[in-house]
Amino acid sequence: MVQVTTFLLVLSLALVASGLSARKCVLTGQWTNDLGSNMTIGALNGKGEFSGSYHTAVTATTNKIQISPLQGSQHSTNQKSQPTFGFTVNWRFSDSVTVFTGQCFVDEDGREILKTMWLLRSRVNSIKDDWKATMVGINVFTRLHSRE
Ligand SMILES: *[C@@H]1O[C@H](CO)[C@@H](O)[C@H](O)[C@H]1NC(C)=O
Repeated sequence: MVQVTTFLLVLSLALVASGLSARKCVLTGQWTNDLGSNMTIGALNGKGEFSGSYHTAVTATTNKIQISPLQGSQHSTNQKSQPTFGFTVNWRFSDSVTVFTGQCFVDEDGREILKTMWLLRSRVNSIKDDWKATMVGINVFTRLHSRE
């Protein structure tokens, strides 16, 4: 009896451990980042394409922030638990576009985390100002509402 109990205990521990490591990172849902910006990513279609919306907490302009649409795609992925992806945000309140690229990870505690880098292109009036038209940065996203 003791052996059976021990066996079941070891088995269940093994199942929990493999469940954690096999956990998939899923892009669909609501995310928040280190700046307090939020985004919602919709369901992926069969080609890994998605759309969503981005509510930034920060702006390089003095314009009033508006929720802006995003379009992206995840690398073809069915088997992959930590997919790469990219998306474009078309800012509704400025003549600017940001492209993000990143990877969806599951951390040691089983939590999903998006590690991204972005380029923000602002419109300038003349080619002479092209040199200062692009900014680069890093953002880390976690789920706004944990799935636990
Ligand atoms: C992001 O969501 C949180 C929680 O709902 C909210 O407190 C915060 O104001 C939101 N940030 C933006 C930029 O909307």
